[in-house]
Amino acid sequence: MAGEEILTQLEEIQQKGLQQLQGVQDEESLQSWRSEFLGRKAPVMTVFSKMGEASKELRPLIGQKANEVKAALEKALEVRTNIIKQSALERSLREEKLDVTLPGRRSAVGRLHPSTRNLRNIYSIFAEMGFQVYISPDVETDDYNFGLLNIPKHHPARDMWDTFWTTDDLVLRTHTSPGQIHSMRENAPDPIRFILPGMCYRYEQVTARHEIQFNQVEAIVVGRNITFADMKGTLNTFARRMFGENARTRLRPSYFPFTEPSAEMDVECFVCGGKGCQICKGAGWLEIMGCGMINPIVLQNGGYDPAVYSGFAAGLGPERIALLRYRIDDIRNFWANDVRFLEQF
Ligand code: PHE
Repeated sequence: MAGEEILTQLEEIQQKGLQQLQGVQDEESLQSWRSEFLGRKAPVMTVFSKMGEASKELRPLIGQKANEVKAALEKALEVRTNIIKQSALERSLREEKLDVTLPGRRSAVGRLHPSTRNLRNIYSIFAEMGFQVYISPDVETDDYNFGLLNIPKHHPARDMWDTFWTTDDLVLRTHTSPGQIHSMRENAPDPIRFILPGMCYRYEQVTARHEIQFNQVEAIVVGRNITFADMKGTLNTFARRMFGENARTRLRPSYFPFTEPSAEMDVECFVCGGKGCQICKGAGWLEIMGCGMINPIVLQNGGYDPAVYSGFAAGLGPERIALLRYRIDDIRNFWANDVRFLEQF
């Protein structure tokens, strides 16, 4: 190829390159343009291998021209690259614009089960009065659940607790009262002041008002000179903390084999204020717990000499209290794990 031809070719390459570059709009075509006009096999790069065909005088001219063309193409590439980068940036700014006036999205926040919250509330009220938490087992022997609590086999009082039996001698505790024996035996003859919280189980038909499992919190105090008045004061304090400073309470005589005398504590209906409504079934009072002075036989079974020591015990049902307090009409809601129910608390 003659030298002149190479020179015109170089001229054409420059024009073609610059022209094509005008149409390049994105990063990808920019890359293919680069390899076509400035890559290793691009004409402007391979021109030196054809130098032999040109006359001696034209060779330096061709070299110079090739360098000019290359520089012009490189300069144009740089300009184009900047234009494309700039427009990509502008586009992303346009597309990613934020509307800061939109309301925020609330994130889902977990919460404690209403029973757990209720239990913790009860713990803290008793903790302020110096009670410690004592945990006793869910599975008990017949003796702990009944016998040692002065409910011998075949005694009709056993009808008060419909029982799940595991083997001949093991039961799912029907109440937290067996913890009285455990906590007394572990500490006698030292004075004790415990609450015994936990699940209890009863063999019942599940209905809106009856569940086969529920929590109880037992309170037990044993020491010298513990009287019925101590019990009344403690339980009244509890009731006021739980239901409000103006909550009125009353004790009604009752019967439990493990306490003597026994009573039930009512709180004035917090729904109707004592006038009588559906919740309190017209009575104006709601029963919240059983209680009494620990029967001397039970004290003895716990390792205390009833001639020297005395004590009281009480048992309350947190779910029952929550049921009344929040006017929940179906006790099955507690363990149904329905978030629509749980989220209300
Ligand atoms: N254990 C009794 C029940 O389940 C409640 C209770 C506890 C009564 C302590 C008196 C004293 O019904």
